[in-house]
Amino acid sequence: MPELQHAAAVCDPVPSVVLLDTTSVLGELGWKTYPINGWDAITEMDEHNRPIHTFQVCNVMEPNQNNWLRSNWISRQAAQKIYVELRFTLRDCNSIPWVSGTCKETFNLFYHETDEAHGVKFKPAQYTKVDTIAADESFTQMDLGDRILKLNTEVREVGPMTRKGFYLAFQDIGACIALVSVKVYYKKCPFTLRNLASFPDTVPRVDSSSLVEVRGACVDHAEERDTPKLFCGADGDWLVPLGRCVCSVGYEEIDNSCAACHPGFYKAYAGNIKCSKCPPHSFSYGEGAAICRCEKGFFRAEKDPPTMACTRPPSPPRNINCKRCGPEPDQCQLCEEELRFLPRPLGLTNATVTVVDFSAHANYTFEIESLNGVSDMSSFPRQIAFITVSTDQGGPSLVGALKKDWASPNSIALSWQQPEQSTLPILDYEIKYYEKEHEQLSYSSTRTKAPSVIISGLKAATWYVFSVRTRTPAGYSSYSPKYEYETTGDSSDMASDQGQVLVIVTAAVGGFTLLVILTLFLLITGRCQWYFKAKMTSEEKRRTNYQNGHVPFPGIKTYVDPDTYEDPAQAIHEFTKEIDPSRIRIERVIGAGEFGEVCSGRLRTPGKKEIAVAIKTLKGGYVERQRRDFLREASIMGQFDHPNIIRLEGVVTKSRPVMIVVEYMENGSLDSFLRQHDGHFTVIQLVGMLRGIASGMKYLSDMGYVHRDLAARNILVNSNLVCKVSDFGLSRVLEDDPEAAYTTTGGKIPIRWTAPEAISYRKFSSASDAWSYGIVMWEVMSYGERPYWEMSNQDVILSIEEGYRLPAPMGCPVALHQLMLHCWQKERSHRPKFTDVVSFLDKLIRNPSSLLPLVEDIQSLPESPGEEMDYPMFISIGDWLDSIKMSQYKSNFMAAGYNTLDSVARMSIEDVRRIGVELIGHQRRIISSVQTLRLQLLHEQEKGFHV
Ligand code: ADE
Repeated sequence: MPELQHAAAVCDPVPSVVLLDTTSVLGELGWKTYPINGWDAITEMDEHNRPIHTFQVCNVMEPNQNNWLRSNWISRQAAQKIYVELRFTLRDCNSIPWVSGTCKETFNLFYHETDEAHGVKFKPAQYTKVDTIAADESFTQMDLGDRILKLNTEVREVGPMTRKGFYLAFQDIGACIALVSVKVYYKKCPFTLRNLASFPDTVPRVDSSSLVEVRGACVDHAEERDTPKLFCGADGDWLVPLGRCVCSVGYEEIDNSCAACHPGFYKAYAGNIKCSKCPPHSFSYGEGAAICRCEKGFFRAEKDPPTMACTRPPSPPRNINCKRCGPEPDQCQLCEEELRFLPRPLGLTNATVTVVDFSAHANYTFEIESLNGVSDMSSFPRQIAFITVSTDQGGPSLVGALKKDWASPNSIALSWQQPEQSTLPILDYEIKYYEKEHEQLSYSSTRTKAPSVIISGLKAATWYVFSVRTRTPAGYSSYSPKYEYETTGDSSDMASDQGQVLVIVTAAVGGFTLLVILTLFLLITGRCQWYFKAKMTSEEKRRTNYQNGHVPFPGIKTYVDPDTYEDPAQAIHEFTKEIDPSRIRIERVIGAGEFGEVCSGRLRTPGKKEIAVAIKTLKGGYVERQRRDFLREASIMGQFDHPNIIRLEGVVTKSRPVMIVVEYMENGSLDSFLRQHDGHFTVIQLVGMLRGIASGMKYLSDMGYVHRDLAARNILVNSNLVCKVSDFGLSRVLEDDPEAAYTTTGGKIPIRWTAPEAISYRKFSSASDAWSYGIVMWEVMSYGERPYWEMSNQDVILSIEEGYRLPAPMGCPVALHQLMLHCWQKERSHRPKFTDVVSFLDKLIRNPSSLLPLVEDIQSLPESPGEEMDYPMFISIGDWLDSIKMSQYKSNFMAAGYNTLDSVARMSIEDVRRIGVELIGHQRRIISSVQTLRLQLLHEQEKGFHV
């Protein structure tokens, strides 16, 4: 037998259920042939003595062949769509002499669905054609001589299937075929275990873009967290895992199942945690312990967590200390004097307490007892320690009551009577005061030698408590009775006091001084902003934005950088709405983002119409930084509200997977949309799209937001051709963008779209966004052409530096190319503002005749016979064609006599067609580059290089 060569590789095996495989049928196949002299069934034995069923037909000499081969009835089982894989050889008609009118190189595949498995007569008219099957490789007489047959493999999809089964039929119309095997199968998503849930074998839908949602069942000893779900895709792949199960108490996850904790271990909570060793003084004997029991004599208090060691009541307190401290920390002596306990007398958790305000001439006894959570459980007697303190030290006498002399909202003057019979000299008085409301927290004190004091710096409208004591060489007296006083004014008085001072000062020294003070104030607050970052409200953060260079428009909200929040969750909370995931229905996967799948689906909102949404998911196994980066985009998007900015519907952060839900844009991203509809739109429609993008950008720049990655791929288009700016997230968008390349300074930048100052020294601004907008205009007008075609990034940078700018795409109105050139001015302050762009485009739309002059109509090259031009970028026609990936037309150019660049620079689109460039895309690419050459030429002439 000749050796078989495979012409097409079979795809990777997919999870499938085989309904028929002729290579594994051991007995006769029993297929029917009509007429009898058409297909021939041949059964040979392989080296393992297994039958090889082959059907052959080769009536290539006779005209009007119509030979049928019909399979047996094949049960459909659960399939909705089936796949038929045919392996066959086919003879090349050219290799057979005298058969040119009769020999064919194809055959036809048919099927017929029926519920009856037996006795169905073959009627060709009942059969539906699936496809005409041709060979990728046919064999010749020479191959036969070399004993090589080229085996073709073709797979066809058939469906949707509805009946119980079906027949296949093969129609030969005069070819020389050997059908070596037929395999019929359907795809399924196979049984799988994910996130501790099992998902059964599932048959995908016929419609290849819709998914089957499957609910998983938790494995033994596991319980549901969020409902576990998977989606079965058309190719038998499981997609978008949602929810999960977790191992119950006493069980831990091992290899996708829940195993019991071993003796000596326990697990007290359901969740993805491992069993833990029993805490000290506890044990577990059996398997699957939820908690460890305490050893004898040890206890666990009611509120003690299972993780805590079992304990017993404490020993009596040791090393009891009681000191009396003077104003300086190193002046401590033994305890004395009046009584205030700081922080409190009972329920102390540290082994220290400060006792103050002892009275003179008194004895104090302190009882000190240690208790713990199990003290009440133990039968052991309670243990109390005692300390006795005597204050009988002959201290100085009391001062008289305090009296207010005068007060303002922020200060008070107090005086008191000197002690009547003081035996020792008075060194000074100590006045203690505190806010009544905050007595336990802090107090202030001041000293004076006179029996009066002025205390300032008080808060207005606040209750204060004052008392005084004397100090003599023997120590302090006890405090005088407390004097309480509420300061006057309202709580803003202090600020207004200062405001008045400022006004008086500035009025005195004039406007210039005010300017200096304000500048200093701004500088100081600017320098200190890191300190206040955590405490700032979004309003204050907005103000910080202004100071960072953005001047807001009155009445327009400004953007707050979520990174200014110390806690990113706060930004999420402030700018986004949390969506209950039960309101979201995921329907299909529409793409893959950096962080996980992007799906389309529906969002239900009570009292509102269900809407179509796009759902970005964060795939499992992320680290906190990825979650923060993922959600940063939502915190930014959530601040915007404009018809040309993609609208955030909300986020799911409280359950897994984390999702960002945005409005659905039916036509996807602008670049691929334009490529798919090359030449389909009117200029006014294209200008309408550009106007939308400019309007969205005007809104962003008014908000103080710099996009940094404005490009057609980051614009989404809805079913009404409305364009919306998307892809926010500052540095992250650049990480995500395949166009972004690393610069010599280490930044990642989409070179072709980025302004020179942003590439060179990272000067990103709304003006650099305007440059990118010019590139988007060019992408739109060229229906998604790649800016600067296949030029390398390095060449793009160099040519921009030399003054080169993209030429107008074919069919581009002059007015639009001029606007592009305006956006690409080297000096960024000369570029138009987005507000100018919007009004310019509005004028064009209102006056469409302004769009009529096209760039190719007005560009004419000055004749310069006999003069060869010197193009810096291209040396020869060949190099030029190589650089624009059009090398295949070198001979066309040469044959037509275009062998110098200046002759090429004069070509029109007709000339390009005439020399044999037939594909419109290629004509477009060549003529665009021809225009570049022309511009370069003009540019060189302007510089005076060529006369
Ligand atoms: N791809 C990414 N985001 C999308 C959206 N909002 N609509 C449609 N496709 C998208």
